[in-house]
Amino acid sequence: MAEKRLIVTYREYTSMDGMDEADRSLLESALDATSSSYAPYSGYHVGAAVLMSDGTIVKGSNQENSAYPSGLCAERTALFAAHAAYPELQMRALAVTACRDGRMVSEPAWPCGACRQVLAESQKRAGEPIRVIVGGLSRILVFYSVDDILPFSFEYNKKG
Ligand code: THU
Repeated sequence: MAEKRLIVTYREYTSMDGMDEADRSLLESALDATSSSYAPYSGYHVGAAVLMSDGTIVKGSNQENSAYPSGLCAERTALFAAHAAYPELQMRALAVTACRDGRMVSEPAWPCGACRQVLAESQKRAGEPIRVIVGGLSRILVFYSVDDILPFSFEYNKKG
């Protein structure tokens, strides 16, 4: 038996001031994307922005449906749109935030487990770490790799 330990190093900011310019700009794009959210059921308007290897930014927002499971989170909307539009490019970073009642939420808008799993595969396709920026009014967290928010992600292995 071996007891092992995981250590996650990340940055925490109390406002957008002081953030790296590229991270800040991506988070602002995510905030901007909340305006296209369709969330009449939850009132929780999530925005995501993906930075591609050539500098292109692809935005996405949550799209709800009256048949609840038919909707999609902002992160997966953005990730799938990015892969579909730019299959030859790699992803470098993803930022996510949310608004309620027209105001950015206070606590960071964390990606759900399913979105983290999709992000993990995007990182595998990219072949290098994807930065993850998770923002709220009270604090913004920057992770250097998807592994830091989803260790032990599922990987399909035909050989078992
Ligand atoms: N939502 C996202 O867009 N991203 C997440 O990672 C978690 C949840 C959306 C789904 C739904 O439209 C709303 O937030 C409330 O759950």
